[in-house]
Amino acid sequence: MCGIFGFIGNRNAAPILLEGLRRLEYRGYDSTGIAVHNSTIQTYKRVGKVSELQEILPDVIEGHKGIAHTRWATHGGVTNENAHPHIDTNNRLAIVHNGILDNARGLREKLQSKGVNLISETDSEVLAHMISIGINSGQSPEDAVRHTLNRVTGTWGLCVLFEDHDLLICASNGSPLIIGQGDGENFVSSDPHALTPHTQNIFFLEDGDIATVTIDKIQISRQDGRTSSTGMTILEKEWGESDLGEFPHYMIKEIHEQPEALRRCISGRLDYPNGSAKMSGLRVSPVDLRNAPHVRLIGCGTALNACKIGALAIEELARITALSHVASEFRYNDPVINTKAFHLAVSQSGETADTLSAVKEIKLKGGTVHGIINVVGSTIARKCGQGVYIHSGPEQAVASTKAFTNMVAALLMFAIKIGRTRSFTTERGRVLIDEFNKIPNLMDEYLQNSGPIDEAVGLLKDAKCVLFLGRGLSMPVASEGALKLMEVAYIPCLSYPAGEMKHGPIALLEEGSPVVVIAPNDKHKQKTIASMHECKARGAKIILIHEEGDDEISLEADVSIAIPSCDNLLTPLLTVIPTQLIAYKTALVLGCDVDRPRNLAKSVTVE
Ligand code: G6P
Repeated sequence: MCGIFGFIGNRNAAPILLEGLRRLEYRGYDSTGIAVHNSTIQTYKRVGKVSELQEILPDVIEGHKGIAHTRWATHGGVTNENAHPHIDTNNRLAIVHNGILDNARGLREKLQSKGVNLISETDSEVLAHMISIGINSGQSPEDAVRHTLNRVTGTWGLCVLFEDHDLLICASNGSPLIIGQGDGENFVSSDPHALTPHTQNIFFLEDGDIATVTIDKIQISRQDGRTSSTGMTILEKEWGESDLGEFPHYMIKEIHEQPEALRRCISGRLDYPNGSAKMSGLRVSPVDLRNAPHVRLIGCGTALNACKIGALAIEELARITALSHVASEFRYNDPVINTKAFHLAVSQSGETADTLSAVKEIKLKGGTVHGIINVVGSTIARKCGQGVYIHSGPEQAVASTKAFTNMVAALLMFAIKIGRTRSFTTERGRVLIDEFNKIPNLMDEYLQNSGPIDEAVGLLKDAKCVLFLGRGLSMPVASEGALKLMEVAYIPCLSYPAGEMKHGPIALLEEGSPVVVIAPNDKHKQKTIASMHECKARGAKIILIHEEGDDEISLEADVSIAIPSCDNLLTPLLTVIPTQLIAYKTALVLGCDVDRPRNLAKSVTVE
């Protein structure tokens, strides 16, 4: 989604800005632009990739400060005019903005009535003109930004470049913005990942902060003029960009990184002697865990599918009501928050606006939330102030893979932990922990011999629609498989509980319709076999993901893909991998941009 990068120092800004944009690319975007100050402000922007922006740039752009942006369209189509930076009428300043201004329409009308000629259809452009009006009336850059922001509602990560002032003004409200402190130079970004090559000393602006950034100073205050308490944090080294190595795409690289990522996630957390999990980031006593009335898990997309698995596992192991919630619905359904309940916000990026607003809603109503997050120091992680990092390392493909398995692993560990305080014995816990320890090696084993994925792709690539079926813990795996195939190969996919299939989706089946069935050797298997028969009787072709050695079910399938056998509770960590490979390979066969699927963003920072 939209990304910001800014630089002020003694070096040439343009190459640094372009490199910053390149590091923001993984978030997904549709247009880009940069503005560099040399005595005047020069702005270049266009629809397309950063590499396409580079094509229109002069060989050398002089200037030691500038701002840059990747845009993911919200207000206004994907056009050169709508790309950022936006400038004021006299080209005295340029802005880049992430987020959405709720009152933009009224502000646009007001500016137009004053004779301001708006070039774009965006909400963001109003900021350039409003700040400019402030400057023209004699305000300092900081005051002009402050007064402007006092008159807009909505969310912003904002960075402003001025013709007549040797500084950048930055502001954040509901959309992340980070200042990186260098040596005689400073950086701005919406994503810590883009700052790692330059510095690890960073300031995460809090909502309502405004920062004045010069070559050698970063001064942060509150929008209302008070002093800000935002201090410097040290960014973890692991957030550097990883390169592709031997792999052609990040998605396949990250699929193959799952065993190692899982080892990191469970390392030091599996507590064999107590048959439990150690999760020191959870600030809750065993008594409070035992007495919690219910657990709520909240997320979007892939994280939501992980939540669904977590809810089922928690309910099963801890005998406590556990519900998963679509984050974008949560706040607006005015949920009743029980202050004793346990809430978990699950997010890879830690920046998803819908999940963040659910966290705020819970806190506003007196509840507490723990984060299950990948990106260290991200907004949701900081807002929760407690929780568990999943340690997947940087995930750069838009389609999430290794973060999914680690979210599931973290939630399963939590299920074991809360289960031990409420329902099952140390012995049962030890069996689970023992089995858990084996999973990374089993993932390796499967990835070395992933089975007839190409045959499955052959059945899927021309499908009008693909049905994914599962029961119990395999139902959210089916949803994740469907999401992945839809995201990267643009094939319409439906995921359904296998038993519910006969109540509707069966109408879609015709000769040759592919149906992907997730059916480990668990208590649901016999019922799932019955559902497979119902599909086959209508001419469907079955792609089955099952446990190895389970001939009873594998003989029923047209294509059968075996995962190594493991404890029923842990099967989602393995059954999901063939669905990831299927999505990846189908996308390749169809010529899709597998790491940057159209219209999608890695980190969706607007509601
Ligand atoms: C976007 C991405 C999905 C991701 C979802 C939640 O929609 O395209 O791949 O699962 O956001 O992201 P999060 O960072 O909160 O896990």
